[in-house]
Amino acid sequence: MNLFIRPRRLRENPVLRGMVRETRLSPDALIYPIFVREGAGVREEIPSLPGQVRYSPDTLPYGLEEMARAGVKSLMLFGIPEKKDELGSAAWQEDGVVQQALRAGKERFPELYFITDVCLCEYTSHGHCGALCGQRVDNDATLPLLARTALSHVEAGADMVAPSDMMDGRVAAIRAALDEKGHSGTPILSYAVKYASAFYGPFREAASSAPAFGDRRGYQMDYHNRREAVKEAGLDVAEGADLLMVKPAMAYLDVMLAVREAYDLPLAAYSVSGEYAMIKSAAAAGLVEEAALACESAACIFRAGADILITYYAKELAGWMREGRIG
Ligand code: PBG
Repeated sequence: MNLFIRPRRLRENPVLRGMVRETRLSPDALIYPIFVREGAGVREEIPSLPGQVRYSPDTLPYGLEEMARAGVKSLMLFGIPEKKDELGSAAWQEDGVVQQALRAGKERFPELYFITDVCLCEYTSHGHCGALCGQRVDNDATLPLLARTALSHVEAGADMVAPSDMMDGRVAAIRAALDEKGHSGTPILSYAVKYASAFYGPFREAASSAPAFGDRRGYQMDYHNRREAVKEAGLDVAEGADLLMVKPAMAYLDVMLAVREAYDLPLAAYSVSGEYAMIKSAAAAGLVEEAALACESAACIFRAGADILITYYAKELAGWMREGRIG
């Protein structure tokens, strides 16, 4: 055969495959989501997310120790309060669940990097991500509540805040509130591009944050849209976001690439609860090999342009990376 160009030449040796690989992965790029609920002595399996555990502030160090041992350095905290109300006021209490968790966690593991999810849906009695005006979430009335929540997280020790509410103008509101109190060095990771998605189902079960009526399509994005993702990300860049996020990840890789190409900020992908649960349940049914599928999904998310991956598989992925299962 007179074939001069043979792509297979670069594929047949495993060392060479490692050499010419276009996407390199590192445990440094992983963020592990952890749920903390109010109370003491809690360490319960989350039925909708097999393998994930809900802690209370006092037991959180067990979870932190596990992730640190696995080689994961950053986490994203989600709080589940005892009491909810119309405005979600437990979100910004000094002794709120996330604030307690931050103090307890930082004291034992000061070397870990604590990011907090800033949203009100876990804290409001109606389960929506802000203050209501009738059946509608009132954007502008919600901004000061989010800013107050973010500030209280930072004052309790958060290294970074990540607003996930999808209100317009919240990055600017949070930036101003942090700067005013002397926290101008604390970065904001904006859930800039967050779609209204059925992939969040297992999370809402885990965090008891399903809306009591309606859905989130009045503030989260429509999954038919990609140009709008670039617009949303651009607004957050202009408002002072330090890092951007696209969420969900697996079914949204075209969006990831579009945002990657439009902006130079570090870009995070959130591989959400439904993505994890789908792999888990398909593996439990014997239909796929769990590690192989989790590794492939993660690598493809990075290939699409993500610099950072938020995933319930963070601990396992760090191990698989070290073993060389993925590069
Ligand atoms: C809070 C929030 C949600 C998720 C992250 N932050 C739920 C939602 O918007 O309904 C979903 C994460 C996941 O599914 O893993 N607003």
